[in-house]
Amino acid sequence: MCINAQSIKEQLNTTVLGKNIFLLESVDSTNSYLKNLIEAPAGTLVVASEQTGGRGRRGRSFWSPKGGIYMSLLYKPEGDFNAGKITSCAALAVCEAIEKTTGLIPKIKWVNDVYLSGKKVCGILSEAITNPVTSQIEGVVIGIGVNVEETAVPSELKNILTSLFAECDKAVSKNQLIAEICNRLEPLLEAKNPAKTVDEIRRRSLVLGKTVTVISSLETYEAKALDIGADFSLIVEKEGERINLSSGEITIRNF
Ligand code: BTN
Repeated sequence: MCINAQSIKEQLNTTVLGKNIFLLESVDSTNSYLKNLIEAPAGTLVVASEQTGGRGRRGRSFWSPKGGIYMSLLYKPEGDFNAGKITSCAALAVCEAIEKTTGLIPKIKWVNDVYLSGKKVCGILSEAITNPVTSQIEGVVIGIGVNVEETAVPSELKNILTSLFAECDKAVSKNQLIAEICNRLEPLLEAKNPAKTVDEIRRRSLVLGKTVTVISSLETYEAKALDIGADFSLIVEKEGERINLSSGEITIRNF
């Protein structure tokens, strides 16, 4: 099923998110493409059918064959921004959009992965755009990659990745899913009181109550995931000490 800008636009009910669309057959990375679009208006959406150099967190590559959705949105927050909040809102928007279009119930592996049946179906990479002269942050690119169709997955990723088709056995409209992600994400980002959003993220969490391995830039350790904080951080307990994680990565042994 082809991605079509007109069809996406017809299904949008946002004020800015997704209104200005760049549709590409193939690109190295939609995040890199959007970061280079000088003066792109807030809400600009770049979508590609495949990426040849898709990027993930911690400098990893993101496998991006034809059959998936690779999209980046330009968000221009007013005042200070919380990167964890933006990524968490994107993960929740993806969950809600998948649920609406397929009936499946996805879960969030804090902070940037969406899972179905214990396997990853979507990854999110939020990146700040900094003005080279003033060093001020001018916007955030929110990159979202969703495995939609079943593709020939490399053997090393077989037990890690799944797709919407593999989980629900029916074709999913990529245009509807893209529009629905924008429709869900805009109000989450703009919410004055995010308490309800945090509650929903807790409800969708794959990690709370589990033992996780925390990988930070300084150390790696085991801890118990206790809660999601009001600031979207992950609260863990390590040897009786509570620690608020605002970034970093975790792995889970048992899903
Ligand atoms: C991760 O799993 O570590 C995050 C993956 C983020 C992938 C998306 S696909 C669209 C956008 N363009 C990129 O190069 N990366 C993000």
